[in-house]
Amino acid sequence: MENKRKRCIFISFIGVMLFLFVSFYNKLISPNGSSQPVMVSPQSKLDQWEDPGPYHVAYPRNYRFIMDDTATCRNRTPFLLLMVPVAPSDVEARDTIRKTWGSEKSVLGQTVETLFILGLPGGPDHEQQQEKLHQENLQHRDLIQGRFQDTYRNLTIKTMLTLEWLSLYCTKASYYMKIDSDMLLHVPNLVKLLLDPKTPKQKYMSGLVWWHSPVIRNPFNRFYMPARVFAEPEYPPYPLGMAYVMSLDLPAKLLQMSSQIKPIYIEDAYLGMCLQRLGLAPTDPPEDTMFLVLPKHPLSNCRLSKVIAVTTESRQQMMSYWQKSKRLEAEC
Ligand SMILES: *[C@@H]1O[C@H](CO)[C@@H](O)[C@H](O)[C@H]1NC(C)=O
Repeated sequence: MENKRKRCIFISFIGVMLFLFVSFYNKLISPNGSSQPVMVSPQSKLDQWEDPGPYHVAYPRNYRFIMDDTATCRNRTPFLLLMVPVAPSDVEARDTIRKTWGSEKSVLGQTVETLFILGLPGGPDHEQQQEKLHQENLQHRDLIQGRFQDTYRNLTIKTMLTLEWLSLYCTKASYYMKIDSDMLLHVPNLVKLLLDPKTPKQKYMSGLVWWHSPVIRNPFNRFYMPARVFAEPEYPPYPLGMAYVMSLDLPAKLLQMSSQIKPIYIEDAYLGMCLQRLGLAPTDPPEDTMFLVLPKHPLSNCRLSKVIAVTTESRQQMMSYWQKSKRLEAEC
């Protein structure tokens, strides 16, 4: 009896030691230099935010919209809203879109509007850049700007702010597409898909769906994700970030879920995580010719007439695809 008790105490002792060792070891190997004692500078005392580290993003924080005086969704309710995340400095991309697919405002009897979403410009000339953005917005009234640093690694913040803006102002519109600025969008084909009676009006998200997207464990890859941040070998299914469309009941639902899931820097995979937590899955488009990524050859007229969104190699190519698609439409 006495022996048994001794053994029990001994085992507990070993257990506690092991626990202490593991906790300490984890601290030692965790990133952001937290192996050093944490110095609380006056600055970080004021700023209560924790450092998100390299694989998460600083969201939610109460980022404000510093520019969003567009009439879209406030005075007018479009059927389809196109939102283009774009770098503040990339006025050329915005102008190309304004001249091409962004100019299509009435399609198959439905209203379509295009807005650009951006963060704060960086660099030594950020004040001049901000002034230029104001001028640009005075002219077009199509910029939505959030108060966060606009960097590639902050893309998830941009995505989540887009959802916030939509859930605040745009719940009466039917659909929203997020589309990158280097894409060609065939607006009539998209509207046709959305008007199809088989397309759900709620809880709907579509695009080029990755059903089994492996989590990249090679630290030299741009999309590296360590197992301690995301343990499963595959992300939940999600449509590729280049172009996805969703019904406008989803932004509020996704945002609600996002408060339970720490945001990672890969924005489309993160939306997949939120979608899964909602118990939803994305929908494949009816034809796999509709969403194309990096096609090996330039699109023939036939393929162009079936596409909804395709990546392009240059602004010239985007322009010429768009002009060609307009000609093809006119012929039919
Ligand atoms: C992301 O934006 C936040 C808010 O502006 C900023 O504090 C942070 O440094 C940015 N992160 C990166 C990686 O750019």
